Amino acid sequence: MEDVRPEIDQEVCISCGACVEVCRFEVLKLRRSGVEACGIGRCIVCGACAVVCPSGALTHPAMPAERMRDLPAQPAVGYEDLMALLGQRRSIRRYTDEPVPEADLRRLVEAAILAPSGHNAQPWAFTFVTDSARLDEIRAAYAEFYRDLLARAADDSGREELAARHGEAALHMLDAMSGALRLIVRAHDRGDDRLMWHAPVLAMVHSTADAPVAEVSCTYAAANMMLAATSLGLGTCIVGFLNMPMLIDPGFMSVLDLPEGHVLRVGMAVGHPARRYLRSVVRREPPVTII
Ligand SMILES: Cc1cc2nc3c(=O)[nH]c(=O)nc-3n(C[C@H](O)[C@H](O)[C@H](O)COP(=O)(O)O)c2cc1C
Repeated sequence: MEDVRPEIDQEVCISCGACVEVCRFEVLKLRRSGVEACGIGRCIVCGACAVVCPSGALTHPAMPAERMRDLPAQPAVGYEDLMALLGQRRSIRRYTDEPVPEADLRRLVEAAILAPSGHNAQPWAFTFVTDSARLDEIRAAYAEFYRDLLARAADDSGREELAARHGEAALHMLDAMSGALRLIVRAHDRGDDRLMWHAPVLAMVHSTADAPVAEVSCTYAAANMMLAATSLGLGTCIVGFLNMPMLIDPGFMSVLDLPEGHVLRVGMAVGHPARRYLRSVVRREPPVTII
């Protein structure tokens, strides 16, 4: 973690203790003389102290005021509005040709990085592929990968080899997905895209392979991106089939051209939806336990 510490202007500090209360790691102590930053090594630079201080006495070098956004005193979005937005987020599988402005892609990142991350590690990095020739290359590479995989899974010796190398569980997963994979391959042969749905943008959230709990953190970031996209009138669709080759042949993933040492966490199609959904869907009643 960066070696930066909160700074307290003792002249301005009112010793309310708010910063001490919100600090996850007891970096701050309330003493008779005022608030003092002590457990410095433990600061995870979450910024909670800087954004809770009512007097403006506490600042954090990693939290420049000009990059902060003032928050309203009440929740910015009411429950009904939020439910409507959550309902408007759908997996979009048909897009218009309209390009997505770079400014919107940057807004998606802005929203993504407000997500929580384990130990505030913010392990994420973002790559947007907007070049149609690159998108075609990726589509074609995946279609060929899956064509080959399906062929191997279709005969006994291929199945034995897959099971030996990747385990029975991988083979079961492959069998469960084979219908969708066949559709992707066949569609590709006729110029259709059932992988990324002809979206004008492929958004990827990635991180180094060894970053702790990065998969979960990047998934939260991706969820923020999807909601931000919805608020901007954009559509998204998670493309889980972009990740699957990682289990079979990690080397194949180089087709995505991610930075050295990075692995794909979430791949997502982004574009302008061709259709508008009129109603929210109805989900199954989930088991809920309240004790
Ligand atoms: C981990 C994950 C992987 C997914 N992979 C794909 C995919 O490869 N292709 C696709 O069209 N949709 C994919 N989806 C979208 C789901 O099919 C979709 O979320 C689900 O059917 C519910 O529909 P909704 O997103 O419109 O609410 C994926 C979703 C998740 C969470």
